[in-house]
Amino acid sequence: MAFWPIVIVKMREKLENILEKVYLKPEQADIAYLLSLDDSRQQEEIFVFADKVRKKFVGDGILLRGIIEFSNHCRNSCFYCGLNKNNRKLQRYRLTQEEILRSVKFLAEQKIKTVVLQSGEEDGLDSFWLAEVISRIKREFDLAITLCVGERPQDDYKLWKNSGADRYLLKIETTNEKLYTSLHPQMSFANRLKCLKGLCDLGFQVGSGNIIGLKNQTLADIAQDIIFFKSQDLDMIGIGPFIPHSQTELSGHGHGDVGLTLRTLALTRIVCRNAHIPATTALASLNKDYRLQGLRAGANVLMPNFTPMDYKELYEIYPGKKCLTEFADTCVSCMAQKATAINRYIDYSRGDALEKKVEV
Ligand code: 5AD
Ligand code: FES
Repeated sequence: MAFWPIVIVKMREKLENILEKVYLKPEQADIAYLLSLDDSRQQEEIFVFADKVRKKFVGDGILLRGIIEFSNHCRNSCFYCGLNKNNRKLQRYRLTQEEILRSVKFLAEQKIKTVVLQSGEEDGLDSFWLAEVISRIKREFDLAITLCVGERPQDDYKLWKNSGADRYLLKIETTNEKLYTSLHPQMSFANRLKCLKGLCDLGFQVGSGNIIGLKNQTLADIAQDIIFFKSQDLDMIGIGPFIPHSQTELSGHGHGDVGLTLRTLALTRIVCRNAHIPATTALASLNKDYRLQGLRAGANVLMPNFTPMDYKELYEIYPGKKCLTEFADTCVSCMAQKATAINRYIDYSRGDALEKKVEV
């Protein structure tokens, strides 16, 4: 009779010990083991641990980053992404400076302090044009600017930094070089790493991240991604489930597992401690809005979309994107409600990168 409770107590102790170990001295094998735990009670224990780490290192505030997807042109043909250049069904667009500035104004009126300027990796993007957009935003608004426009020459990064850009997001997508190469024709893993280093050297606050559930991706790969995030001392880390898009090579592959995505997020929080981690739109887009669970498993950022209504649905990286018909101010109040529902609050500060603490 007394046997089962004892076994359960032992198992629970063990999980707690492994979580402590990963928190203090992360190793790939332990992380991969924790990623494999899809039993709901064990999973909940990982989330609770991550939530404590989140509270200790970044507090209860949820930061808002307003995103403007200013162009869906792309020179790449990534096997998972709907913007890939071979997708001839997609109508391409690029916002004018005035359209961008109008969205920025709306965003600033919602008291948001960070604008994320995102586009496909487009050859046609004139670096001086973007530098002008950055300078204009800096002149007219008191905002932090995050860029997410892909791999560019170091001189472009430098120009944009000097024009006033504060942060840069460049997702590594996967740290398994072989897998990376198989998904990104004509791209080079080495160059992606070089770009990340170049951005750090220039003093940008740097973000990266991965996709969960890519074809042929293993738990060991994901664990290695988390070790990589730590080794790069990243300020921001975006983690989202893979969602298949009909106009891509991976159209027939199933979507990424939500539990695994949330465990990855949680373990990233436990390992990287005070990085800013969003509950991503991709998490929200899988029929049910899983963002709340992301916020309970370690996330501290939400990203309302300020792309003008007419263009929003054309930035179709994956199908079923959340909040396509809502105006961004509706999303901001919805997010505030979500925050209150879990005893958190919206933090309307800039949310710059935090000092990397050594404290345990
Ligand atoms: N499913 C999930 N995430 C995707 N991304 C691109 N395509 C997909 C997809 N099908 C992510 C990539 C990219 C970011 C802008 O969107 O991580 O860096
Ligand atoms: Fe867009 Fe809830 S976040 S409506």
